[in-house]
Amino acid sequence: MEKERKSYVAHCLVLPYPAQGHINPMLQFSKRLVQRGVKVTLVTVVSNWKTMNNKNFTSIEVESISDGYDDGGLAAAESLEVYKDTFWRVGPQTLTELVHSLAASGNPANCVIYDAFLPWALDVAKKFGLLGAAFFTQSCSTNNIYRHVYKKLLELPLSQTEYFIPGLPKLAAGDLPSFLNKYGSYPGYFDIVVNQFANIDKADWVLANTFDELEQGVVDWLLKIWPLKTIGPCLPSMFLDKRLQGDKDYGVSMYNPNSEACIKWLDDKPKKSVVYVSFGSMAGLSEEQTEELAWGLRDSGSYFIWVVRDSEKGKLPKEFVDTSEKGLILTWCPQLLVLTHEALGCFLTHCGWNSTLEAVCLGVPLIAMPLWTDQITNAKLIEDEWKIGVKAVADEKDIVRRQTIKQCIREILENGKGNEIKNNGIKWKNLAKNYVDEGGNSDKNIAEFVAALAHRCT
Ligand code: UDX
Repeated sequence: MEKERKSYVAHCLVLPYPAQGHINPMLQFSKRLVQRGVKVTLVTVVSNWKTMNNKNFTSIEVESISDGYDDGGLAAAESLEVYKDTFWRVGPQTLTELVHSLAASGNPANCVIYDAFLPWALDVAKKFGLLGAAFFTQSCSTNNIYRHVYKKLLELPLSQTEYFIPGLPKLAAGDLPSFLNKYGSYPGYFDIVVNQFANIDKADWVLANTFDELEQGVVDWLLKIWPLKTIGPCLPSMFLDKRLQGDKDYGVSMYNPNSEACIKWLDDKPKKSVVYVSFGSMAGLSEEQTEELAWGLRDSGSYFIWVVRDSEKGKLPKEFVDTSEKGLILTWCPQLLVLTHEALGCFLTHCGWNSTLEAVCLGVPLIAMPLWTDQITNAKLIEDEWKIGVKAVADEKDIVRRQTIKQCIREILENGKGNEIKNNGIKWKNLAKNYVDEGGNSDKNIAEFVAALAHRCT
């Protein structure tokens, strides 16, 4: 028993919020820890554990705790609010049980790296005298906005047309995350994002999935108030620095990607000709928006791959499914393989933080079509700060019309503005790679984190 303990630097429990966009980056970060001699146990909820397509990550163990909905998770709850209340009550108990059982089996944890969405995990860690690190899966920009709300430095409902938040460019009210500009629309999520900061002062570290240059102003500002370490971009190594030898899996998928058909379809398309369309793992489009997008894609005359999850399929116009010749509609795809394929021309995205970072790291030009949450702010940064894409602007009914979609695709795929965007993309891609490469700041920050863990766990 003693012998096994000495064979690793520390044992970390890594607990993501149970959603694709949270598990992916925390898993990739875990692999970097393992590479540096840390033992990692990935902790997920039972329902998620049952559906994960891959539980055999090299050197990472997977354990489950209950969120109160072992069959179905959030989908089985009456509402997000009910789910949240139950998870926030049951989660601390079942995490406590796990900490106990690991200790009893001679495998005690030293540190809990918890998704900042789940602040109660830090309380559990502290109750047992363990170290605690908050992990922010969304951008520092968005989190600084939420922190200002938590501190009541930003009053709601919004009453100004412009906002000046430290470290961020001037933002119009409409550029703030949807939970603020549509205040009251999602009380459960609002609670989650704002209460991330309730006990953060007790955290030993704050880890953020970003890189300094991308969010320099806000990172510099947050460094003054938090023990912050920027450890991103958390992509599978094989798509970025290629330093994790033998790391073959590129993540967890909560859906089954039709990888072979997808790549085969791309293989015979001309270079940089295909528009990839995806709105991530959670968000849904209205029927009207789905129809406008469908005809916008068709009218553009471009090849496209469109990820339409099963729950969204019924919204597709019937004649479109029958007549589309240039498109491939899939329930889920291997996004990173698509983004790196030479046939890819651009990515029409909902601007989820993972999709945004993936596109940044791979130098893919974007058409930003944000739907809700942090996506609104990410879209603003994509267009105006990083200049790696164009925003598809919605009309007064909040619908992006087919003409706009067609125009954005043309703008990106054709020369002119498209070229400028592509050149900016190459600049960001190189910065991201340098950040993660040996000696880059991400690499150094992870090394410092592990050294501090080792120091405090001896
Ligand atoms: C959610 C929120 O929507 C997002 O705004 C927030 O920043 C994180 O949580 P999600 O909607 O799933 O995430 O979007 P995103 O953050 O982009 O993550 C989606 C992940 O699924 C990406 O890693 C992407 O590569 C992957 N994916 C998506 C696939 O592997 N295949 C697909 O077909 C679609």
